[in-house]
Amino acid sequence: MWMNTKVSQALGIQYPIIQAGMGGGIAVPRLAAAVSRTGGLGTLGAGYLAPGEIREAIREIRRMTDKPFAVNLLIPECGQEEASPIAEIQQTMNGFRQDLGIGQTSTVPPAKYAESFDEQMEVLLAERVPVFSFTFGVPETQWIEALKEQGTVLIGTATTVSEAVHLEYAGIDMVVGQGSEAGGHRATFLGGHEHALVGTMALIPQLADIVKIPVIAAGGIMDGRGVAASLALGASGVQLGTAFAACAESGAHPKYKEALRNTTEESTVVTRAFTGKPARGIRNAFIVEMGKHEDKLPAYPIQHELTRDIRKAAANQGRIEYMSMWAGQASRLVSGGAAADTILRLVGHTGEILRRL
Ligand SMILES: Cc1cc2nc3c(=O)[nH]c(=O)nc-3n(C[C@H](O)[C@H](O)[C@H](O)COP(=O)(O)O)c2cc1C
Repeated sequence: MWMNTKVSQALGIQYPIIQAGMGGGIAVPRLAAAVSRTGGLGTLGAGYLAPGEIREAIREIRRMTDKPFAVNLLIPECGQEEASPIAEIQQTMNGFRQDLGIGQTSTVPPAKYAESFDEQMEVLLAERVPVFSFTFGVPETQWIEALKEQGTVLIGTATTVSEAVHLEYAGIDMVVGQGSEAGGHRATFLGGHEHALVGTMALIPQLADIVKIPVIAAGGIMDGRGVAASLALGASGVQLGTAFAACAESGAHPKYKEALRNTTEESTVVTRAFTGKPARGIRNAFIVEMGKHEDKLPAYPIQHELTRDIRKAAANQGRIEYMSMWAGQASRLVSGGAAADTILRLVGHTGEILRRL
């Protein structure tokens, strides 16, 4: 059976289908639990959550399912905070604030730019999560060892072969190969992101040839055609973000879900506008306007913190021109509905295609 792969076996799940951990309130406990209950691997998008919120969310998932699930975090980069001046970009963004009717923001740097990664990790360890997935780098050895000792499966993310080799060498159990079609942040952590915009079709077979750990394909997979193609390319599983962001249980804003349904393959762009780190999302006024100030944009996570009030006000007012709406290049194919239906449709469609082939 196609669904019996190294990934489904090692994770103890029925189908080798992973719902991406999507931070920012998208991959919430009810989405992760719905996916895991149906036989896939649900993931909590915990990157931007405070340690206490992560603990509560893990417990909420466990109240809804006894199946395996993952928690996803973002590996911090060092030394960005001191580097970037923020006064000029804050002034530029005050124009958007005025349009949204919110207060102008001072040029004094905020108290902190991101949650403490170490404190987030302490919660994952204490809660003994079944699977830990991550992006933007490799965790320090102490965390890898501690998690492996208690049986947690580790899944890293790579956009190039050298990143995947790096993850394998560090002792990570599986690697998500993130193609350039993918919605959300680029996972790139070695070298410039512009050299690492490799499509899923090109990336997956090269990863499968070179690393020995199982490869999970991500980027542009929306239905059984994408799953079957990924397996043919040498992947042992798939990870979908956009398809699940559109589901009923996702925490995405209703206007964002509606925007996803109205996209074409030309609607998305890779931008640093919202967070300072390249990410693929639906092109809107904020992205276009901030593109003119690319040279002044501070690095991630500074810009992410600076745009927080704008993103929040835009969501409250349903103003999609200022919302960050991450989406992959195949988002036209979203079907929405319940997450369980999405999984079962993927499974049925994959089987049908493989039989036909
Ligand atoms: C809304 C959204 C948020 C995302 N947030 C994260 C995240 O917090 N951590 C992560 O590892 N990947 C994140 N991703 C990337 C996914 O893991 C995955 O690479 C991508 O969704 C695959 O492409 P697709 O969107 O075409 O399915 C996000 C993707 C989307 C669409």
